Amino acid sequence: MDIIKIKDLSVSYGDKKVLKNLSMNIEKNKITAIIGPSGCGKSTLLSTLNLMIEENGGSFEGDILFKDKDIRSYKKDDIRRMIGMVFQKPTPFPFSIYKNLTYAPIYYGIKDKKELNSIVENTLQKAGLFEEVKNDLNMKATKLSGGQQQRLCIARALTVGPEVLLLDEPCSALDAKNTEKIEEMLLKFSKDYTIVIVTHNLDQAKRIADHTASILDGELVEYK
Ligand SMILES: Nc1ncnc2c1ncn2[C@@H]1O[C@H](COP(=O)(O)OP(=O)(O)OP(=O)(O)O)[C@@H](O)[C@H]1O
Ligand SMILES: [Mg+2]
Repeated sequence: MDIIKIKDLSVSYGDKKVLKNLSMNIEKNKITAIIGPSGCGKSTLLSTLNLMIEENGGSFEGDILFKDKDIRSYKKDDIRRMIGMVFQKPTPFPFSIYKNLTYAPIYYGIKDKKELNSIVENTLQKAGLFEEVKNDLNMKATKLSGGQQQRLCIARALTVGPEVLLLDEPCSALDAKNTEKIEEMLLKFSKDYTIVIVTHNLDQAKRIADHTASILDGELVEYK
């Protein structure tokens, strides 16, 4: 089943058209890798899929269907909850590990301390970080190593129960060992989540992706 359907998508920043009539589908519970040279529009595509593009000064034409409904018909808050995003550079909030992970759940109305604690534990477990930080939940998240920060950001994206995770080169700042940890984690995720990952690393795409979409100068040139 295709959870996202993209039809004739064009995205522009002002007069500059960056994506041109791109059509492709994202299969549910699979890993789709987006590859292509720098500047071809990969981050633009991701940010369009969770409607961040307008905040980034862009606009789009064409259709994006999320679960067969026009993405524009959802509330932005709901889209951001259902379609989470993790960026290239780890971006923990300058708060404790605990607060990083309870911030969004509290925003979405969860108050019960036990429920919040279980969200923190579950998401850290899923991101393979629990054992490393379980005794330091009050530590400032920016004190973690780069690889730990990135796993924290992935855990944070999971705290609101997304269906889709968009990852924009999540391993590019990491060494081989941390990259391997994230790849192992993503392979386990596809049971529960649909993953769209931008990567510069063709070997990474080969190792983890079910589908690979190649973009060149704003056009989809290959999908397999
Ligand atoms: N906020 C913005 N305003 C104007 N132009 C932008 C903006 N963001 C990106 N662009 C332009 O859109 C094009 C595509 O950028 P994008 O960041 O999507 O590429 P990318 O494939 O993710 O590249 P990289 O691999 O370097 O991350 C580039 O020419 C870039 O300069
Ligand atoms: Mg990019």
